[in-house]
Order: sequence, then structure tokens, then C-alpha cells
Amino acid sequence: MDAKKRIFSGIQPTGNLTLGNYIGALRNFKLLEDEYDCLYSIVDLHAITIRQDPAQLRKACLRTLAIFLASGLDPERNIIFFQSHVHEHAELAWILDCYTYMGELSRMTQFKDKSRKHADNINCGLFAYPVLMAADILLYQADLVPIGSDQKQHLELARNIAERFNALYSDTFVVPDGYFPKVGARVMSLQEPTRKMSKSDPEDTYIAILDPADIIRKKLRRAVTDCDAEVRFDPENKPGVSNLMSILSALTGQSLESIAADFSGKGYGIFKDAVADAVIAALAPIQQNYEKLSADKAYLESVMRSGAERASALAMRTLRKVHKKVGLAPAKL
Ligand code: TYM
Repeated sequence: MDAKKRIFSGIQPTGNLTLGNYIGALRNFKLLEDEYDCLYSIVDLHAITIRQDPAQLRKACLRTLAIFLASGLDPERNIIFFQSHVHEHAELAWILDCYTYMGELSRMTQFKDKSRKHADNINCGLFAYPVLMAADILLYQADLVPIGSDQKQHLELARNIAERFNALYSDTFVVPDGYFPKVGARVMSLQEPTRKMSKSDPEDTYIAILDPADIIRKKLRRAVTDCDAEVRFDPENKPGVSNLMSILSALTGQSLESIAADFSGKGYGIFKDAVADAVIAALAPIQQNYEKLSADKAYLESVMRSGAERASALAMRTLRKVHKKVGLAPAKL
């Protein structure tokens, strides 16, 4: 696993994975599997920074694993695993906590947003969440991190922590770069297109990867646009239409200019149907694979077991190195 460059990314197993998760991250996981050694994690420890119903969370974990596989990720070529199954994540996060400043974490916009949303549960885990994310990435010496643009600030922090640690103790961590899709790095809500599409918002604001075709079409037909009936890319003045254009462009590869030309004078109804066709076509194969995979619990378990074993072997190496650098006594003297 050492010759190629390495990728790490993670997705939280909360609620329904959305079209935003797909276009911003999941789709790129598959595109990158030829060129890189990839580790993809279901980051369940991150999920409990918000209160979760245990039975629901357990189901969502397996559902997310099945969606990873259904999207075409090969568990032999990629290491696919649950974060909580590799204890080094939490251990490295603790050590990195000691090299991260309160001021840095207070500036994180996701922390500010989530503390506003969950004012009754502003816990230490929520505050230190980006340090656990840094540990996820640095543990595997990842060169590249495919993510949507909402995670850019967290990645910057991971880079700063790595550089700070390297400066103190000599080279220990690879300083990772982000990998963002050219179009669709921030898919917006269908109802409030100035906000990110998010699985924690009401159902009509997002498309879930597992939504049936008729629901996808209905949600897109009801998506907020504007009243000048012109398909033109202008995120500031026409956020709804621009979001739908980005979705179409991301899924079909058609440029924004050519989309604008194709739908010139045609009205929003036809345009929205074309977006729905593209979304349905992109998600249909994943949904079909998901049906088969999600029923095969033994297979899912075997994937998660072998993923955890392979990830642990790599994680252990970095954690040992870190223990040594900071001066912790070796376990075997
Ligand atoms: P999460 O679970 O919120 O989202 C998973 C991935 O989907 C991307 N994404 C989007 N991209 C475009 N448009 C959207 N509307 C949209 N919504 C979500 C996210 O940018 C992300 O790439 N903290 C991370 C999970 C994480 C992680 C990591 C990621 C934990 N450790 C290490 C990379 C590396 C998160 O909450 O993502």
C-alpha cells in the first residue's frame, strides 16, 4: 500500500445520505480509486457529537456502509471501515487536542452553526470535532482528502495541526490537500438555495440517495426558483436555478453555458424535468445495488471486519511514531 499516494475521506452515518454527499464526496471516491490507495470511513464517532437514537444510529451505520458499496467502491481495492472500530482515531485525537487552541476551534463555522441548532447540547465533543477529523486524516498520512467545500475550514485546521506538530517534533505527518469537485462542491437546499443541502434539514429540502424516482421528481418540481423564467447561471441573483444547473452539470458533464443555451426560452418546467431525469439516472444503479447489498448482512459484516483490520495496521504505525515523538514511554520497554 506504499507506492501510490493515499486518500482518506469520511461520511457521517446520520439521517439519509443526500445528493450533496454524493456529488460533493462519494462520487469522487470511486473516481479516485484507480490512482490512489484509498481509505473511506463511516465516521460514527463524529455522529454522536449530536444526540442520536441508538437503534436508528445502528441502522444508519449499516445503511451507509451499504451505500458506499452500492456506489461501486470495491472493498478489496479500498479500505472501507467504521471509525469506532479503529481505536487509534480517538487516541490520536486526544494527543492532537493538546496541540490545538481553543481560539482555533471557536472560529469553526460548523461549530457555530451546530451550537446554534443544538443550544441545549453544546458538548466538548462538538467543540473538538475538527480535531478528531484531523486525527482521521493524519493517522493514515493521507495526501488527498475528497470533500465538499463545507469541510474546507476543517481541512485547513488539520493542515495547521500537522504543520505545527511537524515543526515541533520533525516530520511526522503528511500535510494533506483537499480535493473538491469543479462543479457541485456545495449543493444547495432545494427550498432555501442560499443554504447548503443537508441531511439534518426537512425532507423536502434535500434529495436522498435512496429516494424513489417519483419523489425525486416531485421534490425537484417544487424546488424554489425565481420569477424571470430564464435558465442562467447567477448564484447571487438566481440561487435556485443556479443550484439546479450545477446539479445537472455535475451529473452529466455538460457545461453551464451549454445548459443555459439548451434551455433558453423553454421555461422552468422542462428544465426541472431534465434535472430530475439526470438525478434519477445517476442514482438508479446505486439504488439497485443497494437493494441487493443491504440484504446481505454477512457480507457487510465481513467487509467491516476486514476494513477495520487493514486500517488498524496502518493507524498503529502512525500512532506509535507519535507516542515516541511526544515522549510517551513505549508499551514494550
Ligand atoms: P458529512 O458527513 O457532513 O458529509 C460527507 C461529505 O459530503 C460533503 N457534503 C456536501 N458536498 C456538497 N454539497 C453539499 N450540500 C454537501 N453536504 C455534505 C461533505 O463536504 C463531506 O465531504 N466532518 C465530515 C466527515 C469527516 C471527514 C473526516 C471528511 C470526518 N472525518 C476526514 C473527510 C476526512 C462531515 O461531517 O461530513
